[in-house]
Amino acid sequence: MAKLLYIESSPRKERSASIAISKYFLDEYLKAHPADGVAVVDLWNKDLPSFDGEVINAKYAIMHGKETTPEQKRAWKPVENLITEFKSADKYVISLPMWNFTIPYRLKHYIDALVQPGYTFTFSPESGYQGLVTGKKMLLIFARGGAYGPETGAQQLDFQKSYMETILGFIGFKDIESIVIEPTMGGNKEAKEAMMKQCQEKAAAFAHSF
Ligand SMILES: Cc1cc2nc3c(=O)[nH]c(=O)nc-3n(C[C@H](O)[C@H](O)[C@H](O)COP(=O)(O)O)c2cc1C
Repeated sequence: MAKLLYIESSPRKERSASIAISKYFLDEYLKAHPADGVAVVDLWNKDLPSFDGEVINAKYAIMHGKETTPEQKRAWKPVENLITEFKSADKYVISLPMWNFTIPYRLKHYIDALVQPGYTFTFSPESGYQGLVTGKKMLLIFARGGAYGPETGAQQLDFQKSYMETILGFIGFKDIESIVIEPTMGGNKEAKEAMMKQCQEKAAAFAHSF
């Protein structure tokens, strides 16, 4: 039995395109893998550790191989808990809107807590950086108001997909699939419905192979 962690980063809930396609994927996934478990992290309803004070001191102590103080250990615990929860899964789905050409700040906050030396990556002068979250599958479900494909001429503005692939690759993910929902804004109703239908078909296909 595998554990799938679904991380949701749109606050728009029932109006959200990324959540609608993720829900479709998860329904199909559970039909195809009825013994698996799905855990949900809703980033708009989760306490994320503020990255200042003793938390940031703890990070630098760890980075420099120094012993952390009792205050730093206490402050660091929520970061460790978040990483433990993340690493407990076998498969991941992250749904995310494009905000200002990149990702929503709640997701960036989560990533800033998650990406830690000794937990999700290591560094040594001999081997350089190495990711520690390995052998796991990732599906990214992106939603954008505009369109950013190669034919649009706007591809270089897409820091959403490139950033997610870079940071997840950095912590060890090699098997990253994606569904891109675009454009969610503008255009007529029929075109949007056809685009959503295509994304549902992709989600259903991934749900079986994932
Ligand atoms: C704060 C904010 C910033 C946005 N920035 C962009 C942007 O840079 N490019 C774009 O194409 N759409 C942008 N949008 C539109 C969203 O990407 C679009 O509505 C998308 O469908 C949101 O995903 P969701 O439906 O899952 O919430 C932005 C929306 C918000 C609220």
